[in-house]
Amino acid sequence: MLQVWAEKYATAAEMGRRSVRGCIVWEGRLGRGEAMKASVLHEYGGPDKLQYEDFPDPKLGEGEVLVRVAGASINPVDYKMRSGEAKARFPVAFPGVLGRDLAGVVREVGPGVTGFEPGDQVMALTQATYAELAAVKASDLAKVPEGLELTAAATLPLVVATGDQLIRKACALAAGQTVLVAGALGSVGRVAVYAALTAGAKVIAGVRKKQVDEAKGLGAMEVVALDDEDAMSEVGLLDAVADTVGGKTATTLLGKVKQGGVFGTLLGPPAGAYMHPTVRVAAMMAEPDPATLVRYAEAIRDKRFAVPVDRLLPLRDAGEGQAIAEKGGVGKIVLVP
Ligand SMILES: NC(=O)c1ccc[n+]([C@@H]2O[C@H](COP(=O)([O-])OP(=O)(O)OC[C@H]3O[C@@H](n4cnc5c(N)ncnc54)[C@H](OP(=O)(O)O)[C@@H]3O)[C@@H](O)[C@H]2O)c1
Repeated sequence: MLQVWAEKYATAAEMGRRSVRGCIVWEGRLGRGEAMKASVLHEYGGPDKLQYEDFPDPKLGEGEVLVRVAGASINPVDYKMRSGEAKARFPVAFPGVLGRDLAGVVREVGPGVTGFEPGDQVMALTQATYAELAAVKASDLAKVPEGLELTAAATLPLVVATGDQLIRKACALAAGQTVLVAGALGSVGRVAVYAALTAGAKVIAGVRKKQVDEAKGLGAMEVVALDDEDAMSEVGLLDAVADTVGGKTATTLLGKVKQGGVFGTLLGPPAGAYMHPTVRVAAMMAEPDPATLVRYAEAIRDKRFAVPVDRLLPLRDAGEGQAIAEKGGVGKIVLVP
């Protein structure tokens, strides 16, 4: 896929870029004090509302680090923010720059920052990453482990924080408990499955019927088709559900949790939650956790588990990338400035 991208958008040399551990980053233009390029949103709407244009460089504050972005992956929250679907919780101040994940190279450190210096390869869960440059709180930043490509690191910050916190904090799973991870083949779901297995839990991977064969590779004790009523009727009582899917599926799964069990969810309490007063419903929002991010990045580098990358796209094609991601059925899409 990288080859297709390279053929379409000329060679790295023609674009004035160089390779850093297999990843292409800007070399020349940004060093001369010109405005950076970003994928900018001026109003809510479809993918075509993302405009690739000049945008003021981020200002570096106390405790912040300026990162030259090498990759920013697309997450569902990005297209929910773009369309306006998420505006009650995550309003966009126009003109705005979307994006939560980045990996890149430190260009400058602000006052009060220790532990990072120009040239460090870093990754973070932050804001406004669909851009050539991003200012990141040093406390949210982690160093990319030696041997992991920056484009792979760029896929991890939000999904790792979310999947790990869904299992460890929202579900608070203990070894030996049984948890059903709904949406187990998604990017967050894969992390949640890995986190639950690492915690010593018995994991049931909940996926679509058409995904059952693929899900057998996740290492779960069992795979269940969430859209198959017969298969669902055979699921016994669970200690916990870790839900990344929401909607009617979540309401059905809530009824499978035993008294005193927990329903951890990324999408708010399911409809009808009040009918299950003996189940603890834990709706959560992910928070940056750089130390945990490093642990998972090492696990990915060492091939202990994987978050599949579907393709790399140039940042100027952020709208195209969001349109593909929004249809579902793909792995991570990484925007490369
Ligand atoms: N609260 C938070 O802090 C937080 C943080 C991160 C993400 N999220 C939310 O969590 C959700 C998952 O994020 P993600 O990055 O993992 O997305 P993703 O990579 O697109 O994964 C979603 C997975 O769920 C599957 N799925 C969707 N609807 C399903 C259904 N009814 N039955 C069975 N499987 C279903 C999808 O299958 P297909 O690909 O075939 O559709 C896909 O495998 C998103 O809604 C996102 O906005 C919340």
